[in-house]
Amino acid sequence: MITEMTYGAVFLKRLVRSTWWREWRGGGCRAVTSIHLKLDKISITLISTQARCEFIKLSFIIKMSTDEKKVFLTGASGLLGRAIYKKFKSGGWDIQGTAFTRVTEDLIKVDITNEKELKDTVAKFQPKFIIHCAAQRFPDKCDKNPKEAELLNVTATEYIAAIAQQRMIPLIFISTDYVFDGKNPPYQPISEPNPVNLYGKTKAEGETITLSKSLKNIILRVPVLYGPVTSLSESAVTSLLQNLLNTEKPITVSNYEKRRPAHVDDIASICFDLLQQKIKDPELKGIFQWSGEEVFTKYQMIQVMSEVFNLKMDHITPDSKEPDPSAAARPFDVTLDSSRLKSLGIHHHTIFKEGIKKDLAKWVQK
Ligand SMILES: NC(=O)c1ccc[n+]([C@@H]2O[C@H](COP(=O)([O-])OP(=O)(O)OC[C@H]3O[C@@H](n4cnc5c(N)ncnc54)[C@H](OP(=O)(O)O)[C@@H]3O)[C@@H](O)[C@H]2O)c1
Repeated sequence: MITEMTYGAVFLKRLVRSTWWREWRGGGCRAVTSIHLKLDKISITLISTQARCEFIKLSFIIKMSTDEKKVFLTGASGLLGRAIYKKFKSGGWDIQGTAFTRVTEDLIKVDITNEKELKDTVAKFQPKFIIHCAAQRFPDKCDKNPKEAELLNVTATEYIAAIAQQRMIPLIFISTDYVFDGKNPPYQPISEPNPVNLYGKTKAEGETITLSKSLKNIILRVPVLYGPVTSLSESAVTSLLQNLLNTEKPITVSNYEKRRPAHVDDIASICFDLLQQKIKDPELKGIFQWSGEEVFTKYQMIQVMSEVFNLKMDHITPDSKEPDPSAAARPFDVTLDSSRLKSLGIHHHTIFKEGIKKDLAKWVQK
């Protein structure tokens, strides 16, 4: 008989001291034949040869996971947060996701710019990790409302990092390739950030705060993201399909800046693997980076969409010129060196064509 239970280490200690345990051993359990201690579980095999019983072999698999695998996630209603929430939930973690305007029955509402509200919610859940995903990540919106962007991307990050520090738990801060100026790729984790717009600047400040509160914290820099969207405008990648579908409107699209898009499920898996490894090795810390493994301009991404969905793109003209410096600044090529993650065996890349086909088909059929 195999009994699989999910209890913590405290339970195990209580169990071996309990009367039940002593009676079990006294009543014929002659041997504890094996005890396997693994990171997340303890397997104990008992053999009973009690005369009145038949031969009983009882295996307990006591998982130690519940205490350790407890994570608090901000921004769980967002493009990346939804994928991270799903990944950790299906991976057996106890996860508390937060939202602000898009609350669902799985998520709780927290305004992370309200320090007390945030602190109380974290205290109630008692996490072992915090993943901070919430942000204002649209560069144009940051430029339009700089105070709001700073409040969300910098001040709220300061609150979260302080809470993690007080609770002595690690913080994983999701950051961006936009902390770099795009002039000298590929960027290493130790390359000096030099953001060209306010969004990148606020995220670079968030990074500095995160590392200054505890050197055990982790920064995960990611590139432009796509995945299952709630509207095409939700991602800078999927919004290109809008241009493609709108054949009535001739448009010029940049064929200049280079991007390495990543699917949100890949980033969620990377985040998951990183935390699993952090449990094994608490010394895992500092800056990690991931870039998608294919490089495209915006125009080239539209070409892929056109090919995948067999859509005409005669109304779209490529613009290969360097953009007008008066327009919102965008870095040219912010390719991140991902070798630190790869050296840990962490590697997830969805082929762009396949990711697009899977997640955007429903928008083409509409
Ligand atoms: N998307 C990209 O292409 C990209 C690229 C590089 C890096 N990143 C980074 O990845 C992370 C996730 O980005 P994303 O694309 O998932 O962002 P997103 O889709 O815009 O989601 C933003 C999240 O922040 C939450 N939020 C906003 N204001 C809040 C407040 N006052 N209190 C609490 N929560 C609040 C939103 O909640 P509600 O929606 O419920 O209001 C939402 O869950 C960000 O740190 C971003 O900088 C994103």
